[in-house]
Amino acid sequence: MDGNGRWAQRRGLKRTEGHAAGEEALFDTVEGALELGIKWLTVYAFSTENWKRPNDEVRYLMGFNERILVGRRDEMNERGVRMRFAGRRDWRVPKRLLRHQDQSVELTKANRTMTFTIAFNYGGRAEIVDAVRALVAEGTPPDKIDERAIRRHLYHPDMPDPDLMIRTSGEYRISNFLLWEIAYSELVFTDVLWPDFRRENLFDAVREYQERDRRFGGVEGS
Ligand code: FPP
Repeated sequence: MDGNGRWAQRRGLKRTEGHAAGEEALFDTVEGALELGIKWLTVYAFSTENWKRPNDEVRYLMGFNERILVGRRDEMNERGVRMRFAGRRDWRVPKRLLRHQDQSVELTKANRTMTFTIAFNYGGRAEIVDAVRALVAEGTPPDKIDERAIRRHLYHPDMPDPDLMIRTSGEYRISNFLLWEIAYSELVFTDVLWPDFRRENLFDAVREYQERDRRFGGVEGS
């Protein structure tokens, strides 16, 4: 969900106002995904690198995330959305926010219309490190550490690899998002800044995806 800061700066607003405007973009996109029947949607809300931002902005983002959870989880629950979080639960994440995350997971855990995963204090490299650490802690012998074993120790082993990854705001980078999982995902880049993103932009990305030829390392028709 990139481009909030630039969206705000272009309007002479504070960066945090760009994040605030990103809320509508996010929930319109969730509605669009539900309309399309998408079963799994994952968004990058806060990265392990975002702690480097000015203190004020970090503090704002913690409160902002908490407000969104409290304000939206009932609506998500009514729409049949199962909410989940992916990332490190380390000392930097406010306890209150973790509590709200846990409550949102608990409230929505029986829902199956769509699984909506919020990557928070998430890093793709950290996720792989955590998986390997867990394997080592279990005493897994080196020759048993293979791709299946790592996959089983990712934050959500039941989450299928994404078919499509969308990056907004004209940046052509992965920025540490779902590194393991996107090995064969189709990537769509758009210049739209996140606060301007709406379900129609999701539909455009899905149309672009449908024109791609996925071979997963094989050859066509084999
Ligand atoms: C990146 O834009 C965006 C963020 C760091 C936060 C986005 C989060 C939300 C819209 C809400 C998430 C909350 C929940 C509970 C799902 P940027 O600041 O990097 O923009 P820039 O690249 O223009 O500076």
